[in-house]
Amino acid sequence: MKLTDEEQRMLDGQYGKAVSMAMSILTKLGQIYGAEEMMPITQVHIDSTFFQLLGDAGLEFVARLVHCDTEFCVPTSLNPSARDIKRWQEFRVPPDFAEKSKRLEQAYLRMGANPTWTCAPYQNGMIPRFGQQIAWAESNAIAFVNSVIGARTARYGDFADICAAVTGRVPKFSLHIPQNRSGEILLRLQTSDLIDFGDDSIYPLIGYIAGSFAQERIPVIEGIPNTVSSDNLKALSAAAASSGAVDLFHILGVTPEASTYEDAFQGKEPTQIIDIGEEELLTARRNLSTVKEGKVDLVVIGCPHASFPEVKQLNQLLGGKKIARGVELWVQTNRVVYHWLKEAGLLESLSFSGVKVTTDTCNLNWPRNIWDNWGFRLLVTNSGKWAHYAPGLTGLQVIFGNIQKCVEAALKGEIREG
Ligand code: F3S
Repeated sequence: MKLTDEEQRMLDGQYGKAVSMAMSILTKLGQIYGAEEMMPITQVHIDSTFFQLLGDAGLEFVARLVHCDTEFCVPTSLNPSARDIKRWQEFRVPPDFAEKSKRLEQAYLRMGANPTWTCAPYQNGMIPRFGQQIAWAESNAIAFVNSVIGARTARYGDFADICAAVTGRVPKFSLHIPQNRSGEILLRLQTSDLIDFGDDSIYPLIGYIAGSFAQERIPVIEGIPNTVSSDNLKALSAAAASSGAVDLFHILGVTPEASTYEDAFQGKEPTQIIDIGEEELLTARRNLSTVKEGKVDLVVIGCPHASFPEVKQLNQLLGGKKIARGVELWVQTNRVVYHWLKEAGLLESLSFSGVKVTTDTCNLNWPRNIWDNWGFRLLVTNSGKWAHYAPGLTGLQVIFGNIQKCVEAALKGEIREG
Protein backbone atom coordinates (compact mmCIF):
# COMPACT_ATOMS: atom_id res chain seq x y z
CA MET A 1 0.00 0.00 0.00
CA LYS A 2 1.33 3.42 -0.99
CA LEU A 3 1.80 5.74 2.00
CA THR A 4 2.74 9.42 2.07
CA ASP A 5 5.90 10.38 3.96
CA GLU A 6 3.75 11.61 6.82
CA GLU A 7 1.77 8.35 6.96
CA GLN A 8 4.99 6.35 6.87
CA ARG A 9 6.29 8.37 9.83
CA MET A 10 3.06 7.61 11.69
CA LEU A 11 3.48 3.91 10.99
CA ASP A 12 7.14 3.97 11.99
CA GLY A 13 6.29 5.32 15.43
CA GLN A 14 7.59 8.89 15.12
CA TYR A 15 4.29 10.13 16.59
CA GLY A 16 4.18 7.55 19.37
CA LYS A 17 3.05 4.00 19.95
CA ALA A 18 -0.69 4.63 19.75
CA VAL A 19 -0.53 6.35 16.35
CA SER A 20 1.75 3.60 15.05
CA MET A 21 -0.59 0.84 16.25
CA ALA A 22 -3.66 2.63 14.81
CA MET A 23 -1.92 3.15 11.46
CA SER A 24 -0.86 -0.48 11.36
CA ILE A 25 -4.47 -1.63 11.93
CA LEU A 26 -5.83 0.72 9.26
CA THR A 27 -3.25 -0.22 6.61
CA LYS A 28 -4.03 -3.89 7.20
CA LEU A 29 -7.74 -3.12 6.84
CA GLY A 30 -6.93 -1.34 3.57
CA GLN A 31 -4.90 -4.32 2.30
CA ILE A 32 -7.82 -6.67 3.03
CA TYR A 33 -10.13 -4.50 0.91
CA GLY A 34 -7.60 -3.87 -1.87
CA ALA A 35 -7.11 -0.15 -1.15
CA GLU A 36 -4.04 1.32 -2.82
CA GLU A 37 -3.58 4.31 -0.56
CA MET A 38 -4.77 6.06 2.59
CA MET A 39 -6.77 9.27 2.67
CA PRO A 40 -7.47 12.02 5.23
CA ILE A 41 -10.86 12.25 6.97
CA THR A 42 -12.15 15.22 8.94
CA GLN A 43 -14.67 13.73 11.35
CA VAL A 44 -15.23 10.45 13.21
CA HIS A 45 -18.18 8.85 14.99
CA ILE A 46 -17.18 6.08 17.40
CA ASP A 47 -19.60 3.30 18.27
CA SER A 48 -17.19 1.25 20.39
CA THR A 49 -19.00 2.74 23.38
CA PHE A 50 -21.11 -0.12 24.73
CA PHE A 51 -18.97 -1.66 27.42
CA GLN A 52 -20.91 -4.92 27.31
CA LEU A 53 -20.17 -5.39 23.58
CA LEU A 54 -16.44 -4.62 23.92
CA GLY A 55 -15.92 -6.53 27.14
CA ASP A 56 -12.84 -6.27 29.36
CA ALA A 57 -10.48 -6.66 26.35
CA GLY A 58 -12.00 -3.62 24.66
CA LEU A 59 -11.78 -1.59 27.84
CA GLU A 60 -8.12 -2.58 28.13
CA PHE A 61 -7.45 -1.48 24.52
CA VAL A 62 -8.94 1.97 25.14
CA ALA A 63 -7.19 2.27 28.52
CA ARG A 64 -3.83 1.59 26.85
CA LEU A 65 -4.43 4.39 24.36
CA VAL A 66 -5.09 6.77 27.25
CA HIS A 67 -1.97 5.50 28.98
CA CYS A 68 0.02 6.52 25.87
CA ASP A 69 -1.41 10.07 26.13
CA THR A 70 -3.33 9.58 22.90
CA GLU A 71 -5.42 12.45 21.57
CA PHE A 72 -8.00 12.30 18.80
CA CYS A 73 -6.84 14.52 15.95
CA VAL A 74 -10.24 15.20 14.31
CA PRO A 75 -13.65 16.14 15.79
CA THR A 76 -15.04 12.90 17.21
CA SER A 77 -18.56 12.11 18.41
CA LEU A 78 -19.62 9.16 20.55
CA ASN A 79 -22.42 6.61 20.22
CA PRO A 80 -24.60 5.87 23.27
CA SER A 81 -22.93 4.53 26.36
CA ALA A 82 -24.04 1.35 28.12
CA ARG A 83 -25.86 3.34 30.80
CA ASP A 84 -27.84 6.51 31.27
CA ILE A 85 -24.97 8.47 32.81
CA LYS A 86 -27.23 10.48 35.13
CA ARG A 87 -30.14 8.11 35.78
CA TRP A 88 -28.64 4.60 35.55
CA GLN A 89 -29.94 3.59 38.99
CA GLU A 90 -33.49 4.42 37.98
CA PHE A 91 -33.07 1.89 35.17
CA ARG A 92 -31.81 -0.85 37.51
CA VAL A 93 -28.31 -1.02 36.03
CA PRO A 94 -25.99 -2.89 38.45
CA PRO A 95 -23.25 -0.74 40.08
CA ASP A 96 -20.31 -2.89 38.85
CA PHE A 97 -21.57 -2.66 35.28
CA ALA A 98 -22.07 1.11 35.63
CA GLU A 99 -18.54 1.47 37.00
CA LYS A 100 -16.93 -0.28 34.00
CA SER A 101 -19.04 1.75 31.64
CA LYS A 102 -17.90 4.91 33.40
CA ARG A 103 -14.23 3.95 32.88
CA LEU A 104 -14.82 3.55 29.15
CA GLU A 105 -16.73 6.85 28.94
CA GLN A 106 -13.99 8.76 30.73
CA ALA A 107 -11.27 7.25 28.56
CA TYR A 108 -12.93 8.62 25.41
CA LEU A 109 -13.38 12.05 26.95
CA ARG A 110 -9.73 12.14 28.00
CA MET A 111 -8.73 11.53 24.38
CA GLY A 112 -10.81 14.55 23.35
CA ALA A 113 -14.11 13.13 22.10
CA ASN A 114 -17.31 15.18 22.23
CA PRO A 115 -19.71 13.77 24.84
CA THR A 116 -22.57 13.37 22.38
CA TRP A 117 -23.56 9.85 23.56
CA THR A 118 -26.04 9.46 20.72
CA CYS A 119 -26.58 7.16 17.75
CA ALA A 120 -28.01 10.09 15.77
CA PRO A 121 -25.11 12.59 15.86
CA TYR A 122 -26.49 14.08 12.64
CA GLN A 123 -29.41 15.56 14.62
CA ASN A 124 -27.37 17.87 16.84
CA GLY A 125 -23.98 19.46 16.65
CA MET A 126 -21.87 17.04 14.61
CA ILE A 127 -23.36 17.41 11.15
CA PRO A 128 -20.94 16.96 8.25
CA ARG A 129 -21.48 18.64 4.89
CA PHE A 130 -22.23 17.11 1.49
CA GLY A 131 -19.17 15.36 0.04
CA GLN A 132 -17.15 15.53 3.26
CA GLN A 133 -14.88 12.51 3.82
CA ILE A 134 -15.56 11.12 7.30
CA ALA A 135 -15.24 7.84 9.21
CA TRP A 136 -18.44 6.90 10.98
CA ALA A 137 -19.52 3.77 12.77
CA GLU A 138 -23.08 2.82 13.90
CA SER A 139 -25.17 1.36 11.10
CA ASN A 140 -28.12 3.79 11.16
CA ALA A 141 -25.78 6.79 11.24
CA ILE A 142 -23.70 5.45 8.35
CA ALA A 143 -26.79 4.92 6.19
CA PHE A 144 -28.22 8.35 7.09
CA VAL A 145 -25.04 10.37 6.65
CA ASN A 146 -24.16 8.74 3.30
CA SER A 147 -27.68 8.79 1.88
CA VAL A 148 -29.47 11.83 3.29
CA ILE A 149 -26.54 14.22 3.81
CA GLY A 150 -24.25 12.89 1.08
CA ALA A 151 -21.09 12.84 3.21
CA ARG A 152 -18.80 9.87 2.49
CA THR A 153 -17.99 7.06 4.84
CA ALA A 154 -17.34 3.36 4.59
CA ARG A 155 -18.75 1.04 7.27
CA TYR A 156 -16.36 1.25 10.19
CA GLY A 157 -16.73 -1.13 13.08
CA ASP A 158 -15.32 -1.31 16.58
CA PHE A 159 -11.67 -0.24 16.91
CA ALA A 160 -11.30 0.88 13.26
CA ASP A 161 -13.37 3.94 14.26
CA ILE A 162 -10.98 4.65 17.14
CA CYS A 163 -7.94 4.21 14.88
CA ALA A 164 -9.40 6.72 12.40
CA ALA A 165 -9.85 9.28 15.20
CA VAL A 166 -6.26 8.73 16.34
CA THR A 167 -4.68 9.10 12.88
CA GLY A 168 -7.17 11.19 10.88
CA ARG A 169 -6.68 8.65 8.09
CA VAL A 170 -8.60 5.71 6.56
CA PRO A 171 -7.97 3.46 3.57
CA LYS A 172 -9.32 4.88 0.33
CA PHE A 173 -11.98 2.31 -0.48
CA SER A 174 -15.71 1.53 -0.51
CA LEU A 175 -18.09 4.52 -0.37
CA HIS A 176 -15.26 7.04 -0.05
CA ILE A 177 -14.90 6.67 -3.84
CA PRO A 178 -17.65 8.40 -5.91
CA GLN A 179 -17.88 5.60 -8.51
CA ASN A 180 -18.75 3.12 -5.77
CA ARG A 181 -21.83 5.11 -4.80
CA SER A 182 -24.10 4.38 -7.78
CA GLY A 183 -27.45 2.65 -7.26
CA GLU A 184 -27.59 -1.06 -8.06
CA ILE A 185 -31.22 -2.13 -7.68
CA LEU A 186 -34.48 -0.23 -8.15
CA LEU A 187 -37.40 -0.50 -5.72
CA ARG A 188 -40.62 0.99 -7.14
CA LEU A 189 -43.27 1.89 -4.58
CA GLN A 190 -46.73 1.25 -5.94
CA THR A 191 -48.94 3.84 -4.31
CA SER A 192 -52.53 3.07 -3.37
CA ASP A 193 -55.27 4.42 -1.08
CA LEU A 194 -54.05 2.15 1.70
CA ILE A 195 -50.52 3.57 1.71
CA ASP A 196 -50.48 6.68 3.89
CA PHE A 197 -47.19 8.58 3.71
CA GLY A 198 -48.31 10.63 6.72
CA ASP A 199 -48.11 7.49 8.88
CA ASP A 200 -44.68 7.32 10.54
CA SER A 201 -44.61 3.50 10.44
CA ILE A 202 -44.49 3.40 6.64
CA TYR A 203 -40.84 4.53 6.56
CA PRO A 204 -39.28 1.82 8.74
CA LEU A 205 -41.33 -0.67 6.73
CA ILE A 206 -39.95 0.65 3.43
CA GLY A 207 -36.43 0.60 4.93
CA TYR A 208 -36.93 -2.94 6.22
CA ILE A 209 -38.05 -4.14 2.77
CA ALA A 210 -35.23 -2.25 1.02
CA GLY A 211 -32.63 -3.82 3.33
CA SER A 212 -34.10 -7.32 2.89
CA PHE A 213 -33.93 -7.10 -0.91
CA ALA A 214 -30.71 -5.13 -1.23
CA GLN A 215 -28.56 -6.86 1.40
CA GLU A 216 -25.12 -5.41 0.48
CA ARG A 217 -26.23 -3.66 -2.70
CA ILE A 218 -27.21 0.02 -3.01
CA PRO A 219 -30.98 0.40 -3.44
CA VAL A 220 -32.64 3.27 -5.27
CA ILE A 221 -36.20 3.87 -4.06
CA GLU A 222 -38.80 5.47 -6.30
CA GLY A 223 -42.15 6.81 -5.09
CA ILE A 224 -41.46 8.51 -1.75
CA PRO A 225 -42.82 12.08 -1.78
CA ASN A 226 -40.23 14.82 -1.29
CA THR A 227 -42.20 16.09 1.70
CA VAL A 228 -40.65 13.20 3.68
CA SER A 229 -39.18 14.45 6.97
CA SER A 230 -35.69 14.00 8.30
CA ASP A 231 -37.14 11.86 11.12
CA ASN A 232 -38.86 9.62 8.57
CA LEU A 233 -35.55 9.17 6.74
CA LYS A 234 -33.84 8.44 10.04
CA ALA A 235 -36.31 5.60 10.69
CA LEU A 236 -35.89 4.32 7.13
CA SER A 237 -32.08 4.35 7.44
CA ALA A 238 -32.10 2.40 10.70
CA ALA A 239 -34.44 -0.29 9.39
CA ALA A 240 -32.59 -0.70 6.07
CA ALA A 241 -29.31 -1.12 7.93
CA SER A 242 -30.92 -3.76 10.18
CA SER A 243 -32.54 -6.12 7.67
CA GLY A 244 -29.61 -5.67 5.26
CA ALA A 245 -26.10 -4.26 5.27
CA VAL A 246 -27.27 -1.02 3.64
CA ASP A 247 -24.70 1.76 4.04
CA LEU A 248 -26.14 3.92 1.28
CA PHE A 249 -29.51 4.23 -0.44
CA HIS A 250 -30.89 6.79 -2.84
CA ILE A 251 -34.45 8.11 -3.05
CA LEU A 252 -35.34 9.59 -6.42
CA GLY A 253 -36.04 13.29 -6.16
CA VAL A 254 -35.26 13.35 -2.43
CA THR A 255 -31.67 12.45 -1.52
CA PRO A 256 -28.80 14.59 -2.82
CA GLU A 257 -27.17 12.08 -5.17
CA ALA A 258 -30.47 11.11 -6.81
CA SER A 259 -32.03 14.22 -8.24
CA THR A 260 -32.50 12.22 -11.47
CA TYR A 261 -32.60 8.54 -12.41
CA GLU A 262 -29.31 8.98 -14.33
CA ASP A 263 -27.62 10.55 -11.28
CA ALA A 264 -28.78 7.79 -8.95
CA PHE A 265 -27.45 5.01 -11.20
CA GLN A 266 -24.53 7.08 -12.58
CA GLY A 267 -25.75 6.36 -16.11
CA LYS A 268 -25.94 2.57 -15.62
CA GLU A 269 -29.04 0.35 -15.49
CA PRO A 270 -30.30 -1.39 -12.32
CA THR A 271 -29.44 -5.08 -12.05
CA GLN A 272 -32.87 -5.81 -10.57
CA ILE A 273 -36.24 -4.01 -10.42
CA ILE A 274 -38.67 -4.82 -7.60
CA ASP A 275 -42.20 -3.51 -7.15
CA ILE A 276 -43.40 -2.89 -3.60
CA GLY A 277 -47.08 -2.58 -2.80
CA GLU A 278 -49.54 -3.13 0.03
CA GLU A 279 -48.85 -6.84 0.25
CA GLU A 280 -45.10 -6.36 0.80
CA LEU A 281 -45.71 -3.63 3.39
CA LEU A 282 -48.22 -5.77 5.29
CA THR A 283 -45.81 -8.73 5.22
CA ALA A 284 -42.99 -6.56 6.55
CA ARG A 285 -45.23 -5.30 9.35
CA ARG A 286 -46.19 -8.87 10.26
CA ASN A 287 -42.53 -9.94 10.22
CA LEU A 288 -41.58 -7.18 12.64
CA SER A 289 -44.01 -8.47 15.29
CA THR A 290 -43.63 -11.78 17.09
CA VAL A 291 -47.20 -11.82 18.46
CA LYS A 292 -50.48 -10.14 17.45
CA GLU A 293 -51.83 -9.01 20.80
CA GLY A 294 -51.30 -9.14 24.52
CA LYS A 295 -50.76 -7.35 27.79
CA VAL A 296 -48.14 -4.63 27.34
CA ASP A 297 -45.20 -4.26 29.73
CA LEU A 298 -42.96 -1.80 27.91
CA VAL A 299 -43.28 0.78 25.14
CA VAL A 300 -40.05 2.12 23.60
CA ILE A 301 -39.82 5.28 21.48
CA GLY A 302 -36.54 6.74 20.22
CA CYS A 303 -34.58 4.34 18.07
CA PRO A 304 -32.59 5.98 16.62
CA HIS A 305 -32.59 8.60 19.38
CA ALA A 306 -35.74 10.73 19.32
CA SER A 307 -35.73 14.29 18.01
CA PHE A 308 -37.55 17.18 19.71
CA PRO A 309 -40.51 17.05 17.24
CA GLU A 310 -40.92 13.30 17.83
CA VAL A 311 -41.10 13.70 21.61
CA LYS A 312 -43.42 16.68 21.25
CA GLN A 313 -45.76 14.56 19.13
CA LEU A 314 -45.67 11.82 21.75
CA ASN A 315 -46.61 14.32 24.44
CA GLN A 316 -49.49 15.66 22.33
CA LEU A 317 -50.83 12.15 21.73
CA LEU A 318 -50.69 11.39 25.45
CA GLY A 319 -52.79 14.52 25.98
CA GLY A 320 -51.96 14.79 29.68
CA LYS A 321 -53.28 11.26 30.43
CA LYS A 322 -51.40 8.81 32.63
CA ILE A 323 -50.13 5.56 31.13
CA ALA A 324 -51.65 2.32 32.47
CA ARG A 325 -50.45 0.93 35.80
CA GLY A 326 -47.70 -1.65 35.33
CA VAL A 327 -46.62 -0.26 31.93
CA GLU A 328 -43.27 1.46 31.33
CA LEU A 329 -42.94 4.00 28.50
CA TRP A 330 -39.31 4.87 27.73
CA VAL A 331 -38.11 7.59 25.37
CA GLN A 332 -34.45 7.36 24.30
CA THR A 333 -32.86 10.62 23.27
CA ASN A 334 -29.78 12.81 23.64
CA ARG A 335 -28.93 15.52 26.17
CA VAL A 336 -29.61 18.39 23.78
CA VAL A 337 -33.18 17.26 23.16
CA TYR A 338 -33.60 16.55 26.87
CA HIS A 339 -32.59 20.12 27.64
CA TRP A 340 -35.01 21.50 25.05
CA LEU A 341 -37.83 19.37 26.51
CA LYS A 342 -37.07 20.79 29.92
CA GLU A 343 -36.99 24.38 28.62
CA ALA A 344 -40.28 23.88 26.80
CA GLY A 345 -42.00 22.45 29.88
CA LEU A 346 -42.58 19.13 28.13
CA LEU A 347 -40.46 17.09 30.50
CA GLU A 348 -42.83 17.88 33.34
CA SER A 349 -45.84 16.91 31.31
CA LEU A 350 -44.22 13.65 30.14
CA SER A 351 -43.24 12.81 33.68
CA PHE A 352 -46.83 13.43 34.84
CA SER A 353 -48.00 10.89 32.24
CA GLY A 354 -45.49 8.37 33.61
CA VAL A 355 -42.97 8.57 30.75
CA LYS A 356 -39.27 8.02 31.52
CA VAL A 357 -36.95 10.03 29.26
CA THR A 358 -33.49 8.50 29.11
CA THR A 359 -30.33 10.04 27.64
CA ASP A 360 -26.79 8.92 26.73
CA THR A 361 -27.76 5.29 26.19
CA CYS A 362 -29.63 2.59 24.34
CA ASN A 363 -31.26 -0.05 26.50
CA LEU A 364 -31.51 -2.59 23.69
CA ASN A 365 -27.90 -3.59 24.26
CA TRP A 366 -28.30 -4.32 27.96
CA PRO A 367 -27.06 -7.70 29.14
CA ARG A 368 -29.87 -10.19 29.76
CA ASN A 369 -29.65 -9.98 33.56
CA ILE A 370 -30.88 -6.37 33.49
CA TRP A 371 -33.82 -7.35 31.32
CA ASP A 372 -34.53 -10.28 33.64
CA ASN A 373 -34.59 -7.84 36.57
CA TRP A 374 -37.38 -5.92 34.91
CA GLY A 375 -39.39 -9.08 34.19
CA PHE A 376 -41.02 -7.75 31.01
CA ARG A 377 -42.69 -10.08 28.50
CA LEU A 378 -44.15 -7.88 25.74
CA LEU A 379 -42.79 -4.66 24.30
CA VAL A 380 -44.31 -2.33 21.72
CA THR A 381 -42.22 0.02 19.59
CA ASN A 382 -42.46 2.23 16.50
CA SER A 383 -38.85 1.44 15.58
CA GLY A 384 -38.11 -1.09 12.87
CA LYS A 385 -34.62 -1.55 14.30
CA TRP A 386 -35.76 -2.27 17.86
CA ALA A 387 -38.47 -4.59 16.57
CA HIS A 388 -35.93 -6.45 14.43
CA TYR A 389 -33.31 -6.99 17.15
CA ALA A 390 -35.28 -7.05 20.42
CA PRO A 391 -36.55 -10.65 20.31
CA GLY A 392 -32.97 -11.97 20.02
CA LEU A 393 -31.28 -9.47 22.32
CA THR A 394 -33.87 -9.05 25.07
CA GLY A 395 -35.87 -12.29 24.89
CA LEU A 396 -39.11 -10.24 24.80
CA GLN A 397 -42.10 -10.61 22.50
CA VAL A 398 -42.48 -7.58 20.23
CA ILE A 399 -45.26 -5.73 18.46
CA PHE A 400 -44.34 -3.06 15.90
CA GLY A 401 -46.76 -0.18 15.35
CA ASN A 402 -46.94 3.50 14.58
CA ILE A 403 -46.63 6.18 17.26
CA GLN A 404 -50.42 6.33 17.73
CA LYS A 405 -50.54 2.56 18.30
CA CYS A 406 -47.67 2.83 20.81
CA VAL A 407 -49.47 5.53 22.80
CA GLU A 408 -52.74 3.58 22.73
CA ALA A 409 -50.89 0.51 24.01
CA ALA A 410 -49.27 2.50 26.83
CA LEU A 411 -52.58 4.08 27.92
CA LYS A 412 -54.62 0.86 27.77
CA GLY A 413 -51.93 -1.57 28.90
CA GLU A 414 -52.89 -3.95 26.14
CA ILE A 415 -52.68 -4.13 22.37
CA ARG A 416 -54.59 -5.85 19.60
CA GLU A 417 -53.74 -6.22 15.95
CA GLY A 418 -55.13 -3.46 13.71
FE1 F3S B 1 -29.58 3.84 18.53
FE2 F3S B 1 -30.00 1.78 20.03
FE3 F3S B 1 -31.48 2.19 17.96
S1 F3S B 1 -28.03 2.58 19.45
S2 F3S B 1 -30.12 3.15 16.51
S3 F3S B 1 -31.38 3.50 19.77
S4 F3S B 1 -30.73 0.21 18.65
